[in-house]
Amino acid sequence: MFHYESDFYDKSAFAKAKNSLNQYEQQALGDVAGKRLLHLQCHFGQDSLSWAHKGAIVTGVDISDTAIKLAGKLSGELNIPATFVCCNVLDTSKYVTDKFDIVFTSYGTIGWLPDLQPWAQMIASKLNPGGIFYMVEFHPIAWMYDYTVEPPVMKYHYAQKEAIHEQYSGSYAAPDASIISNEYGWNHSLSDVVQSLINAGLKIDKLAEHDASPYDIFPGMIKKDDMYVLKDQLYPTIFEVQASL
Ligand SMILES: C[S@@+](CC[C@H](N)C(=O)[O-])C[C@H]1O[C@@H](n2cnc3c(N)ncnc32)[C@H](O)[C@@H]1O
Repeated sequence: MFHYESDFYDKSAFAKAKNSLNQYEQQALGDVAGKRLLHLQCHFGQDSLSWAHKGAIVTGVDISDTAIKLAGKLSGELNIPATFVCCNVLDTSKYVTDKFDIVFTSYGTIGWLPDLQPWAQMIASKLNPGGIFYMVEFHPIAWMYDYTVEPPVMKYHYAQKEAIHEQYSGSYAAPDASIISNEYGWNHSLSDVVQSLINAGLKIDKLAEHDASPYDIFPGMIKKDDMYVLKDQLYPTIFEVQASL
């Protein structure tokens, strides 16, 4: 998997710092020592292992067999224990029987899911009473634009029901990789996200929107205080939701 070797995920910096987390999620979840944390769509586990290094007891799930194998390898190499499970996030309960104090997901996850209702039900079913769900994601407004043209044009609905198909060379983490990314995704509005969690029985404790992104993933972003903002800063690029059972 070329993401594993990419500058974006900077494996050697991670091996030193043992922390790939950004300010939003670290501030939101604070001290996780001793807490059981379920990481949804954990990719190859850098963030999962970061939480584990801070003392959480972590289980990560992802649909990619390759990513899960790499996560296990990284866990062994860095001697940071965590459990990694390969499954569709919607089927988590079939493969993970434990309940958790924290369910966490971040940056580039819900866009892979066509319907958030079963996702939210699964989250509620995996939380201990009083448990916290926290997510930080790219903002649906930011996904409304076609960035292949300059200036970007508004092209997709804020809550696109049909899949958005994007084909481009490289990938978000390795723009120069000699592959064609052929992606189908869904843009979920903030009300879709929040209402799916409410319908699943969760109480929303926080909804926040931010201009500054820890990742330089939209074309033409400008670095500002170690974060990235759009040139005109007319819309937010990140949102956070925190909810509890
Ligand atoms: C953009 S990555 C997440 C990035 C993560 N924030 C990180 O930095 O490592 C999205 C992940 O979602 C996973 N994924 C996509 N659809 C999924 C599904 N239905 N169930 C579980 N994992 C899924 C992909 O395999 C990928 O590892």
